[in-house]
Amino acid sequence: MNNQFENKVVYITGAANGIGKAAADVFSERGAKLALCDTNENLLQEVVNDYKTKGIEVLSKRIDVTQKNELFSFSDQIISKFGKIDICVPNAGAIGSSDFSKRKDYIDEDWEITYSVNVKGLVNTTDSVKDHMIKNNDGKIVIVSSQGGRKPRGIGDKDRGNVLNPYLVSKAAAIQFTHALAIELGKHNINVNTVCPGRLYTSFWQQIAENHKSMNSDYADMDPFEIFKQQAESYFPLKRAQEPRDIAYSIAFLASDEASEITGQALNVNGGGILN
Ligand SMILES: NC(=O)c1ccc[n+]([C@@H]2O[C@H](COP(=O)([O-])OP(=O)(O)OC[C@H]3O[C@@H](n4cnc5c(N)ncnc54)[C@H](O)[C@@H]3O)[C@@H](O)[C@H]2O)c1
Repeated sequence: MNNQFENKVVYITGAANGIGKAAADVFSERGAKLALCDTNENLLQEVVNDYKTKGIEVLSKRIDVTQKNELFSFSDQIISKFGKIDICVPNAGAIGSSDFSKRKDYIDEDWEITYSVNVKGLVNTTDSVKDHMIKNNDGKIVIVSSQGGRKPRGIGDKDRGNVLNPYLVSKAAAIQFTHALAIELGKHNINVNTVCPGRLYTSFWQQIAENHKSMNSDYADMDPFEIFKQQAESYFPLKRAQEPRDIAYSIAFLASDEASEITGQALNVNGGGILN
């Protein structure tokens, strides 16, 4: 067994599903203790029960990352239980407001939710951990942003409007925040990086594929997963979409001692979907 993260405390937001859950799997398989939060309390509880059955030490709480006070009180709980936070993975994200998949163009609520979760929720999360890391003069923060925050590409976008714009802008902000936070925290021996996933069939791409289906007559007879798969095969040089564990392995690398000279960087994990 790889015990790379033995005695490390890893805190992940949006950990009940998708990339966050895969990151929790990879870190715990390599010996880490986990602190996990999510808005989906039932799913989070299932995940936590499974970890406990496997003998993994885990603290969890239902938290909405837009609620700064909840995050600060959870950080204090993590410190009380484990004594430190070594690694933080702000991963929770929102694609848009309700009925996103049925709309051609954005509404105000799309801007509000993507800003409050993907930007302010991210800032709330790192604000709530950074003093603990500064105190230890040690820490790794790996933010989950998106290749769409760098160079959006409108594959299959026929007849679709601007509904994805708020999400793309929020993820660009997450990348710029990574740069700023790396500069701010570098003198405290804290590395801050971001991974930029391409396309994964989690709830995110399910909603986007449903949006393609309702807007684009070419897709009318296909189910959302087929739409996703067809686009991925034509779009990525590697001819496939990513899986949550693909992203988790890169998060683990950036959180490891092997990446101690890497900070302020955005790493595409996207099968070559964009090439910078
Ligand atoms: N799926 C993709 O193709 C893709 C591509 C690029 C980036 N991303 C990013 O990856 C991250 C994880 O998404 P995923 O694809 O694993 O989706 P997912 O839906 O499987 O997981 C997201 C998790 O975040 C939780 N969450 C949502 N809002 C929250 C909030 N306000 N507070 C706390 N938890 C909240 C959800 O309940 C869910 O468990 C997101 O930041 C997303 O933007 C995803």
